[in-house]
Amino acid sequence: MNITTTKKRIQELRNQLHYHNHQYYIQNHPVIADKEYDKLMDELIKLESDNPELFDPNSPSVKVGSDLNIEFTQIPHAYPMLSLGNTYSEGELRDFYNRVEKLAGQQVSYVCELKFDGTAISLIYENGKLISGITRGDGEKGDDVTQNIRTIKTIPLVLSGDYPARFEIRGEIFITHKGFEEMNRERAEAGEELFANPRNAAAGSIKLQNSSLVAKRPLDCYLYYLLGENLPSDSHFKNLEKAGEWGLKTSPQTVKCDSFIEIWSFIEKWDKSRNNLDFDIDGVVIKADSLKLREKLGFTSKSPRWAIAYKFKAEEAQTRLISVDFQIGRTGAVTPVANLQPVYLAGTTVKRASLHNADIIASLGLHYNDLVVIEKGGEIIPKITAVDSSQRISCSEPVKFIDNCPACGTPLVRIDGESAHYCPNNSNCPPQIKGRIEHFIGRKAMDIDGLGSETVGLLYDNNLVNKVSDLYNLSVGELVNLERLGEKSASRIIQSINNSKNAPFQRVLFALGIRFVGETVAKKLAQASKSIDGLINATEMELLEIDEIGEKIASSISQFLNDAENLKLIDDLRKHGIKFELDPELTKTVSDKFKGITFVVSGVFSRSRDEIKKLVELHGGTNVSSISSKTGYVLAGENMGPAKLEKAKKMSVPVITEEEFLKMIEI
Ligand code: IVH
Repeated sequence: MNITTTKKRIQELRNQLHYHNHQYYIQNHPVIADKEYDKLMDELIKLESDNPELFDPNSPSVKVGSDLNIEFTQIPHAYPMLSLGNTYSEGELRDFYNRVEKLAGQQVSYVCELKFDGTAISLIYENGKLISGITRGDGEKGDDVTQNIRTIKTIPLVLSGDYPARFEIRGEIFITHKGFEEMNRERAEAGEELFANPRNAAAGSIKLQNSSLVAKRPLDCYLYYLLGENLPSDSHFKNLEKAGEWGLKTSPQTVKCDSFIEIWSFIEKWDKSRNNLDFDIDGVVIKADSLKLREKLGFTSKSPRWAIAYKFKAEEAQTRLISVDFQIGRTGAVTPVANLQPVYLAGTTVKRASLHNADIIASLGLHYNDLVVIEKGGEIIPKITAVDSSQRISCSEPVKFIDNCPACGTPLVRIDGESAHYCPNNSNCPPQIKGRIEHFIGRKAMDIDGLGSETVGLLYDNNLVNKVSDLYNLSVGELVNLERLGEKSASRIIQSINNSKNAPFQRVLFALGIRFVGETVAKKLAQASKSIDGLINATEMELLEIDEIGEKIASSISQFLNDAENLKLIDDLRKHGIKFELDPELTKTVSDKFKGITFVVSGVFSRSRDEIKKLVELHGGTNVSSISSKTGYVLAGENMGPAKLEKAKKMSVPVITEEEFLKMIEI
């Protein structure tokens, strides 16, 4: 293909993919099969990577994110991002209503919207293209998170129709319940800390410094506030309808109301049925519809006089505490869980509540049989927020945190600075062993089919599997002898165990279950170290030099790989043919020019930073994220932070420009 045809094809693919994104994510009405979509996307990605000069930040391929560390810069808001006055009372809402009517001097139309419980964002579109995404920050200026925002599937990069040349639209980034559960399940599998609720998860995700990680988070958005000089209508409601026509995602629940009764019935409806939504709302926002009227009403120093938030009370219920279980996870962490007298709360019957850790139990002053208040605030399981000690049954015992592991009896330990207690008996504590086996066979790890947690329990209880390497010694005969397993399923399991020997190194690394080494970190480690021996021989300092690896992860890896038992396990697995080296195809280079040389790539370049990093690797070099005296070069683009330049100078690390770098590799 010559360059003109390539350019044309790229444009065609971009147009088609923008259209399909809109159909799929905004309209919920896909018109092609996923496979066909993937084919178009693969073709686009290939053409773009072969022709980096045709890079466009608004290409649909950008949705997959980039592996580079973003340093957020602060950008002032064109209009301050204020918050809303709020109330929990019908009387105060009526006061707001009467005040607006009085100041308007006439009957007013209102728009009622859901109050989404996420994190606020301001988007700017120029000539139909997304040019920036800024967080609320302090209301005057926020962080420029454009690169992260570009990865969110429901935020279009290009618009269609009769949009104004430049406008701002604000809204809320959130995570659905389904997305949140899936995300926390994956974090639990990786031994990572769980997010407390979807709001924290959304706010944390949008501030991640690596947009390819953001692309993996199930972020969604609703947009609810247009700003600009040339908006289509004086009516907020009509402007939102227009925004929908341009391809922006607005809420289908928004309604126009012309009386207090209508407003109140909208509030009552959503207070009752908010549990039917797949995302969290914490109230309803009531806004005057006319922009002219809004101007007349103006703002106080903190919030507009033309809008108010009516907040729902957190859903609470009272019940009695029956008992407390202390569960041991695969890392040995102890989680106290309260067993409750079943009680109906926010759409489900609750039987268990989280007690988090020893400090929380102590601060609640919890006794057995206490009447407790439980609250559902989007957390994974409800939490106990208060104890009604006036209702305490006399001589009931206080809940005491355990001193010994309930499974193996080993005295528990508490690591400095951490709130959790741990059972240190990693090698012999049954729930830890079973948990590690379950993690090892997981879909994202060795992907061994047919072995659920029950079968793992049976294998362990029957002394057939005590460590993950024992899986590879199993025979069909042994499995058939277990309860509930027929010949056919047994053969399938053995087949699947054998197939797992083909799992690539990065999945094996994840499967080992090293604390804090999730799927993405495992990938980074595999790429940087190329083999398990590379990792075993690396010092903690060297691990810290790998892109994205911080102190917590480095120390956990080093601890794991310095343990004789773990090394023996790796050796056994290796003997069974498990892959402990990166596929040579993935490590191919075009020259050895930068062999043994590390690069810190920072700032903005004429080609994408991903590409620059790829070029470093293609010539045998390694990318690291922070500057040390061992760094070979700092490759500085535009806008590189002054602190990094200063550090490079201090450590006498040569700083080179993109041009100088390209010359070195003769491009
Ligand atoms: S309008 C001038 N509409 O609530 C304020 N805000 O407590 C304009 N929020 O910062 C905001 N849903 O992050 C508006 N439908 C909605 C909303 C909403 C959620 C958030 C927003 C705002 C906060 C104020």
